[in-house]
Amino acid sequence: MQIPALQAVTIEILVDNFFDVFEPSRPGIVERVTPGRLPKPLVAAHGLAFLITLNHQGRLTRILMDAANDPLPLFNNLEALGHKPEEIDAVVVSHGHPDHYGGLLGFLAKRVGPLPIYLHEDTYFPKLFMTPKGRIGPWVLSADQLTQAGGQLEENRGPLVILDQVLLTGTVERTTGYEKGLPVFKRKINEQEEPDPFSDEQALVAVVEGRGLVVIGGCSHPGIVNMVKYAQKLTGVDKVALIIGGFHLTAGGEALIQQTIQGLKEINPELIMAGHCTGFRALTKLAGVFPDNFMVSCVGTKVLVVGG
Ligand SMILES: [Fe+2]
Ligand SMILES: [Fe+2]
Repeated sequence: MQIPALQAVTIEILVDNFFDVFEPSRPGIVERVTPGRLPKPLVAAHGLAFLITLNHQGRLTRILMDAANDPLPLFNNLEALGHKPEEIDAVVVSHGHPDHYGGLLGFLAKRVGPLPIYLHEDTYFPKLFMTPKGRIGPWVLSADQLTQAGGQLEENRGPLVILDQVLLTGTVERTTGYEKGLPVFKRKINEQEEPDPFSDEQALVAVVEGRGLVVIGGCSHPGIVNMVKYAQKLTGVDKVALIIGGFHLTAGGEALIQQTIQGLKEINPELIMAGHCTGFRALTKLAGVFPDNFMVSCVGTKVLVVGG
């Protein structure tokens, strides 16, 4: 599928699980915040929200990808980083887990006027999570509530070019064999619980002039390597500038971590930035294997992929 080569993509991490003041910056590539210079403290939370700015021939478009687990971290950090809800041109929901849409209704309520929301049709299925202490959920994202709050729902199943600039992958093709998903995640269809195949999870994909792909994931339940490979297949672009998101690895065990590391080595991206649900142990392993091109995703960090 053809998408235009953009002049730049910037991803500002509004909400993530981590903040570490000692994580280094790379001028012009990864810019960290200085907490003492912010008007209020940032908060980390178990959730994800990215502010993605696309530069297409000088015209800027701003996408909110995921809306954190709750309005509290989302609004606190938007304010701390100097952003207003009105800046956003469209929303993308990566998948139907509440740590990615918990702040969305609150976000819509703070805005005036309609706002496009892009999401997979299967995002609305009730979702559950089995823990050693029992089940959690079901959680349901309500299409009616989103519409009433001013959301213009744009649903897809397969790949979809949005805003004439970037690609949503639709249901991710699974090709690696080792990224099988975890049995603790369930969804409900017609009152029946079943293992969640995460048909709803999709990556947002951009192409930056001279740099290659930017692949942005939420939880990466279908597997981050599957997601990147599918983005390569859909766009016909093999070179990868940036892979960013939660990778959901620690919970999958050591074999999955090692196989994913091998898959990422073969893809050979310029930069990997993982956070959210990746898990501390998996993050430390990624940091060890990729000393030069892995960085931890922290709230307030800005990642810049500039064409050239
Ligand atoms: Fe998540
Ligand atoms: Fe998730």
